[in-house]
Amino acid sequence: MIIIAIDGPAAAGKGTLAKRLAATLNLPYLDTGLLYRATAKLVLEAGGNPADHETATAAARALTEADAARADLRDMATSKAASQVASIPAVRAALLAYQRAYANANGAVLDGRDIGTVIFPHADVKLFVTASVEARAKRRQAEFIAKGEHIPLADVIADVAARDEADRRRTASPLIPAEDAILIDTTTLNADEAFLRAMEEVKKKQAIFSREKMAPKGTS
Ligand code: CDP
Repeated sequence: MIIIAIDGPAAAGKGTLAKRLAATLNLPYLDTGLLYRATAKLVLEAGGNPADHETATAAARALTEADAARADLRDMATSKAASQVASIPAVRAALLAYQRAYANANGAVLDGRDIGTVIFPHADVKLFVTASVEARAKRRQAEFIAKGEHIPLADVIADVAARDEADRRRTASPLIPAEDAILIDTTTLNADEAFLRAMEEVKKKQAIFSREKMAPKGTS
């Protein structure tokens, strides 16, 4: 059973990498951003204020798996509101047990902002995936275009930069690399290269596991 934590700023390529690692290693994958996005969506749809602690916390507590599986959680209004609800400690507390239970069942790849620092400080592999804001915004814009939405690059850059700033500055589980995280900068790496770099780390860990298994008892 292996737990892989992938953290990093907005649109850094965490999801692409996490999905590929999960498929290769036959592990479940949890995109934890969807939990915050779905919480935000519930608040917005009820006409509430995502910055209001009570409203957002009630939404987080009421969240179902179906809410987080919705296909309409990736627009910019929901992204911004997700970052707002995510700064509220009680919202994070309400979503913590689900994330831990999900991965503890069969191992998992999880991506988010605080997986390696708060949710699984003892994760087997911790990756911090980042890239320049321009590279990230261009990728996010391409995702929007693929869905038929043409959003000016300047607007995408503004969204990504504002969320990064809010995610880094908040006091509740700020976006920060875990001390023992491996940094992967995807500014000049394509998806294949980022995957190979991540797999090197996974293989190192697997080699340690198998050495520990082979060692006669009492030798380690
Ligand atoms: O896909 P993208 O990287 O743009 O964002 P996401 O991972 O879906 O996360 C959306 C927002 O949720 C982030 O801007 C964070 O504020 C928040 N989030 C968080 O605080 N903690 C997590 N583990 C995951 C997301």
